[in-house]
Amino acid sequence: MTATVVTAVAPILIFLWPAPAKGQKKGPILVSLDTPLDQLQDGTATKILAPTSPNSAFIMADGGGDNTPGDLAFGAFVVKTGSNVAVFAQNCSHLGCSISFVPASDTHPETSFDCPCHGSRFHLDGSVLHGPAAYPLSHLTWKQGDSPNQIQVDGIVLGF
Ligand code: FES
Repeated sequence: MTATVVTAVAPILIFLWPAPAKGQKKGPILVSLDTPLDQLQDGTATKILAPTSPNSAFIMADGGGDNTPGDLAFGAFVVKTGSNVAVFAQNCSHLGCSISFVPASDTHPETSFDCPCHGSRFHLDGSVLHGPAAYPLSHLTWKQGDSPNQIQVDGIVLGF
């Protein structure tokens, strides 16, 4: 009975969660921050890029719209709101264009993440401020590195 279940279920699990291709390795990606975590001001964000040597990508922890958990992101924003720090993939949940962090100004009343493709905007907590996007930004799983200007983000080394 157990052998029959394993034989039937294992191929489905391998299809749903395939192993990384040969030479690829999932794990924490160490990233240096332009602004150390302890100096990140409330309501601001700093951009990070996945390392290119070796070629790496971050892995989305959740998703909605064009983003799915497990999708790759090559850039992200570390954002501080109050005492909370979150890391969001740069991929717009509408159709995947790269968002930008836009501070409030005379012509831009609210600080937000803005998408240049179709005008979607997102609050700093990742929720939708303005469509056409209908889903929030995707979180990345992260933790503090050994120093305040380093974080480790769940990702994958794609190759050299
Ligand atoms: S891809 Fe961002 S608004 Fe369409």
